[in-house]
Amino acid sequence: MKTNIELLAFRRFFKLISIGLWLFVLYIPAFSQQPTQNTSFKPGGEWLADDGVHIDCHGGNIIFVESLKTFFWYGEHRGRPQGASCYSSTDLYNWKNEGVVIEKGDIQTFERPKVIYDENNDRYVMWFHYDGNGYTIAELGVAVSDNPTGPFKVIDHYRPNGHESRDIGMYFDPDTKKAYIGYAADHTNLTIRIVELSEDYLSITTNDVDIKAHCEGPGILKKNNTFYLLTSQCSGWTPNPGTYYTAPDIMGPYTSQGSPFIGDAGNNSFNSQPCFIFKIPGYRDAYLYMGDRWNGGGRPESQYVFLPITITAEGKMELHWYREWDLSMFTPERRRSGRRNRVTIPSNSRNRGNNDTRDSNR
Ligand code: DGJ
Repeated sequence: MKTNIELLAFRRFFKLISIGLWLFVLYIPAFSQQPTQNTSFKPGGEWLADDGVHIDCHGGNIIFVESLKTFFWYGEHRGRPQGASCYSSTDLYNWKNEGVVIEKGDIQTFERPKVIYDENNDRYVMWFHYDGNGYTIAELGVAVSDNPTGPFKVIDHYRPNGHESRDIGMYFDPDTKKAYIGYAADHTNLTIRIVELSEDYLSITTNDVDIKAHCEGPGILKKNNTFYLLTSQCSGWTPNPGTYYTAPDIMGPYTSQGSPFIGDAGNNSFNSQPCFIFKIPGYRDAYLYMGDRWNGGGRPESQYVFLPITITAEGKMELHWYREWDLSMFTPERRRSGRRNRVTIPSNSRNRGNNDTRDSNR
């Protein structure tokens, strides 16, 4: 008798466990978000990687490696472990999480990583803002890797030519193959300096000038031999009105031209801070503004504001708000020697540019 009751109880227990297991399996998808295939940019919106998790890659840059036909996006990984993350893509809309490519370890502040590919040595060089908790060490750090997805190893850190260095930007000149770092410099960013890198991009040269601008988040582009430097002002994690400067030479002299953010009602760069300007290969004058929407603090879930940059016929830099847009806004470059030289865009995303400004969160 007792055995029968025990058997019944065991069966009931087994049934309950089985039902529980089935319910768990059925509801697993509810716990992780399934990413959908993106066909456009949605500035300030939710942006999930292939793993269904928010892209955690802030203050960084994008490179395109021609031999791999792949874009790599590097930035601060503000979740754990902290350091720099890398995401890869073939269309700029959909990103695969390649993981943390360098952990910051005992570096107290690791910000604004910028990576450049050294074609001659088939090597990836990362420069970053190396600092202490109070931002008083103010150095440049440099790390290197043989693979785009790391691991990167820190090889040095110092004050460039003795100057304080905090927020950094990077510019690679496709005509001269030289690379430069723009850095918020002395007297707690009271000025910005530009320094030329060595040929292998692993060290700095003494070609280092003060361009007298009180700013952070520098991004640079060149059009028709005019250099455009876009910067934010200095207000911590709070957005402020950006300014752009023009110069006939990367080393200056630079002239302030005011804010390029057109219709920026919140006067805060569409609620973003610049981190890089990426020239999209395969399209004529296709400059991608990469901005961070920090929301008052550098958090893993901070969003991104990616927008097209226009240089008008009069040579003015302009950014307009688009709630959603895609690469069909740009004109493809002419085919070179019969080969298509542009990035493939999903066909259903053409001709979309929605500049409804209502939800720019400005
Ligand atoms: C603004 C800078 O642009 C960020 O990278 C970060 O250093 C914050 N300041 C810290 O307040």
